[in-house]
Amino acid sequence: MNFHIPKDSILEGRIAAVDPTLDLEAEINRLRGKRNAVILAHYYQDPEIQDIADFVGDSLDLARKAAATDADVIAFCGVKFMAEGAKILSPGKTVVLPDMRAGCSLEDSCPPDRFEAFRNQHPDHISLTYINCSVAVKALSDIIVTSSNAEAIINQIPKDQKILFAPDKYLGGYLSKKTGRDMLLWDGTCIVHEDFSEKELIKLKAKHPGAPVAAHPECPPSILNHADHIGSTSSILKFSREYAGDTIIIATEPHIIHQMQKASPGKTFIGAPAADGNCNCNDCPFMALNTMEKLYLALRDLQPEITVPEEVRIKALKPLERMLEMSPIQGVQPDLSEIPAQIPAA
Ligand code: 13P
Ligand code: SF4
Repeated sequence: MNFHIPKDSILEGRIAAVDPTLDLEAEINRLRGKRNAVILAHYYQDPEIQDIADFVGDSLDLARKAAATDADVIAFCGVKFMAEGAKILSPGKTVVLPDMRAGCSLEDSCPPDRFEAFRNQHPDHISLTYINCSVAVKALSDIIVTSSNAEAIINQIPKDQKILFAPDKYLGGYLSKKTGRDMLLWDGTCIVHEDFSEKELIKLKAKHPGAPVAAHPECPPSILNHADHIGSTSSILKFSREYAGDTIIIATEPHIIHQMQKASPGKTFIGAPAADGNCNCNDCPFMALNTMEKLYLALRDLQPEITVPEEVRIKALKPLERMLEMSPIQGVQPDLSEIPAQIPAA
């Protein structure tokens, strides 16, 4: 993976001014109380951030928590599109992201002007859009999905309704195969998941015969073809808890292994390898930007703060709310009678 994240000299200056003897954990706890803040963290964050968070989850869980919280401040330890989702759903809250450069290659692959042109070329298609996208792209979409609810949502859309899916072509391809629906796919990828190597995975499987492979659907088909379980981060975590054997190969960002080890200390979790078996190529470089120091600064200064212009927020809210309405909760089947045959553009 060859990726350049620009320097942020203002943030570096703020970090340099932090007293190095400060007990960051104690300070974060003190500020969390003072600010009436909730700390939400994604499974790809560093273990110390996961451990200090009030809640750790996948992108759907985190959106639900952000929508339901009564805290005044949401300190979002994840990437920008997730924090923006929190702001869209909870506009009255102050939402801070420890490092504003925490983007996502999928979001970058889908500029709003090109997405709008794509939509205009296919006026008879509804747009099912992966949550890993900008607020502007959400505002141009009909329904937002995550990898944990996409299949259930597609199954609620009438069979004759044409669908376009953006921005992840691998997730879209996987869903198309799984649901039997023909979908027009945007050509975006996750730089982390596309870096897993099939050749290295085959070698690893040979070393651990019988160990199942659990993979995120952002992986290319060359990896998914070897998977015994495919699902969102929460779903992979659940699989790891329930699997009766002792060794599992994990084909997603490896920081999730922290929660697996906590839940199943007796099991062995092996990260699937990238093409260069010795690199950390499957660490998400965007998630890695958030640190304990930056979380402390975010709570102390309420900076960097996520802002979303109200006009765009209102447009982006509709497809996000549709997602929440159409997402099954813990096995409860959604009521399909309310879903219109033709979902109008937001
Ligand atoms: P989840 O919704 O499975 O947490 O995935 C988010 C993500 O960005 C995966 O790369
Ligand atoms: Fe985006 Fe990939 Fe990082 Fe997830 S792992 S936030 S999809 S770059």
